[in-house]
Amino acid sequence: MLERKKILLGITGSIAAYKAALLARELQRRGAEVRVVMTPSSIEFITPLTLATLTGHPVYSDFTENRDSGEWTNHVELGLWGDAFLIAPATAQTLSAMVTGACDNFLMAVHLSSRCPVIAAPAMDLDMYQHAATQANLEALENRGVSIIQPDSGALASGLDGKGRMAEPEAIANWLENWFQTKAPLNDKKIVITAGPTHEPIDSVRFLGNRSSGKMGFALARELQSAGADVHLIAGPVQLNDPSGVQVTRVETALEMHAEAMKAIKSADIGIATAAVSDFRAKTTSKVKWHRNEMPTAIELDENPDILYDWGKQKRDGQILVGFALETDNGIESAKSKLKRKNLNFIVLNSTADPGAGFGTDTNKISIFEQNGKSHTFDLKSKDAVAHDITQLILTHLPQ
Ligand code: CTP
Repeated sequence: MLERKKILLGITGSIAAYKAALLARELQRRGAEVRVVMTPSSIEFITPLTLATLTGHPVYSDFTENRDSGEWTNHVELGLWGDAFLIAPATAQTLSAMVTGACDNFLMAVHLSSRCPVIAAPAMDLDMYQHAATQANLEALENRGVSIIQPDSGALASGLDGKGRMAEPEAIANWLENWFQTKAPLNDKKIVITAGPTHEPIDSVRFLGNRSSGKMGFALARELQSAGADVHLIAGPVQLNDPSGVQVTRVETALEMHAEAMKAIKSADIGIATAAVSDFRAKTTSKVKWHRNEMPTAIELDENPDILYDWGKQKRDGQILVGFALETDNGIESAKSKLKRKNLNFIVLNSTADPGAGFGTDTNKISIFEQNGKSHTFDLKSKDAVAHDITQLILTHLPQ
């Protein structure tokens, strides 16, 4: 159930740290990949060697890998690696540091760099756990989206009896499995997204292109990835960084995008075409720059393949296809005809006639038309928020 999930396990200085070895084992047994970061005080309770041996990967607890050479450990890379950052055990001290954003050890730096969801399994004595300060910290973290795995009640290392014992490794693994299923509803779904413009060369310096920025496709890739999907983004020439955890293939022309997209759709559950693919390419191109006097006065064009149409032609049972239609007028009829012609589940219409919508902007205003006749209109919002709305609709199309 945790197959291919990347769990970054953070261990902090509590006696419950000894259970972290069993936890790492249990997560791996269920298919997860585990990497470990430790605070210096947790090393008093369990050795990095134990965890490194169990997980088969080095354990990080320090900013420097090799003090003599000055090699440092990249906390940003580790922070971006995980599908979830599980801090177990999480001490009262660490919970408090998480609230204030303290960064006085390597684990806390990873915490600040991580973009994946953070989950903490507290472990402490009952009075520490009940203390108003700890309870306020837990509340503050939960308000910030950190999930807390409730500690158990029972005999504590102090000899006292009460709530504060870290949940058992098996219970934590069960909790994670359940969390991946409910919080990550697209768990294990493979999604391919085309994004950005294409550039069709005329000569070695000139091209036919358009103003697409790729922002909508990249926002969707991020949103779907965080909903648990395995996302493959095929992007034309855009000035955007690879979203973390997403496989990105960069292409230049419509033919290249078509070739990659046709390969990727074969194993995909969902295909989303946000790219503004050039419908035409120059019939003849020059490998060197044409000087002014060599430039033809007319450029003959060949038609490019329609990627989404070709996806639609070979759509499998249960596969979901989503298209975009950028129109310069209100374009409802045109969008609806593309929905049918390309065999889509739904099409997202945006119009350059709406201020703040379309190419290059950080916002978008969309309407959606579904194959089953339903339609939805949305207000102007950020492309991230639009990506969320589209994701929610995709969920309703998943085969039951
Ligand atoms: N599309 C595609 N490949 C193409 C052209 C379009 O995959 N060669 C996809 C776009 O990514 C979008 C949808 O088809 O999801 C509609 O694109 P659009 O350019 O609006 O439609 P066209 O079919 O090209 O129609 P027209 O240019 O006549 O409006």
